Amino acid sequence: MIAFQNVSKHYDNNIVLKDISFSVQKAEMAFITGPSGAGKSTILKLMYMEERPDEGDIVIGDFHLASLKASKIPFFRRGIGIVFQDFKLIDNLTVIDNVALSLRIRGVSEKEVKTLAFTALKKVHLRHKADNFPKSLSGGEQQRVVIARAIVAEPFLVLADEPTGNLDSNTALDIMKVFRGINISGTTVIIATHNRELFRYTGKRVLKLDGGNLIGEEVG
Ligand SMILES: Nc1ncnc2c1ncn2[C@@H]1O[C@H](COP(=O)(O)OP(=O)(O)OP(=O)(O)O)[C@@H](O)[C@H]1O
Ligand SMILES: [Mg+2]
Repeated sequence: MIAFQNVSKHYDNNIVLKDISFSVQKAEMAFITGPSGAGKSTILKLMYMEERPDEGDIVIGDFHLASLKASKIPFFRRGIGIVFQDFKLIDNLTVIDNVALSLRIRGVSEKEVKTLAFTALKKVHLRHKADNFPKSLSGGEQQRVVIARAIVAEPFLVLADEPTGNLDSNTALDIMKVFRGINISGTTVIIATHNRELFRYTGKRVLKLDGGNLIGEEVG
C-alpha cells in the first residue's frame, strides 16, 4: 500500500536519494535506518508531501504523490499521523487541548473531538494527565502526548522521525511499545532512526540507507 518507485531527490547539486524503490504493506511496522545524512528524514518528508520527488513516484494507498495536485494535499494528509521533531507541543495548551487541536481546526464537532482526544490519550496511557500543561510532564510523557496527537484522527499511517531522540533508553523502549500497540490495532507505522536499539528483537523489517542509497534490508 506504500511504494517508492525509482525515487530520486536532490537539493541543488546534492543528490540525497538515488533511485530508491521499496514497498511497505498495509498494517506493517517498518524501520528506516542509516547514518546521519543518509536520507531517512527526506524519505518521511516525501511520504508526507513536505517535499516532492524529482524522479519516480510514490504511491500511498490510492494517491500517486508525484502528480498529486497541491489542492489535494490537506485531504491526503488527513490519513497520516506524524511524529516529527519540528512539530512541537504548544506550551500554553493543556495536554488534551494539544491532542484535540487539529480536529478543532478541521471543524469536527466538540462531542466527537472529546471522544477522539480521550481515546488517543488512553492509548498512550496518559488519560490522567489530560488537564496538565506539557511543561509539567516528563520527556517521555511529552513524547506520548505527541504520539496521541498524531493518532487522534485515527490515521491509517503513522510516520515517526527519531521519535525517541532525547529520551533515555528505558523511556525509549516504552515509547516503542506505544508504537507497537498502535501497529497491532492495524495502523501502518514507519519509523526512521539511527538507533539500532529501537528495532533490535522486534522481528520487523528494517530498510538500510546509506548516502542516499538503499543498501539492503534486515529483520530487527
Ligand atoms: N532542505 C534541505 N536543503 C538542502 N539539503 C538538505 C535539505 N534537507 C536535507 N538535506 C540534505 O540531504 C541529506 C539527507 O538529509 P536527511 O535529513 O534526510 O538525513 P537523515 O538520514 O535524516 O540524517 P539524520 O540522522 O542526521 O537526521 C543531507 O546531506 C542533508 O544535508
Ligand atoms: Mg533525520
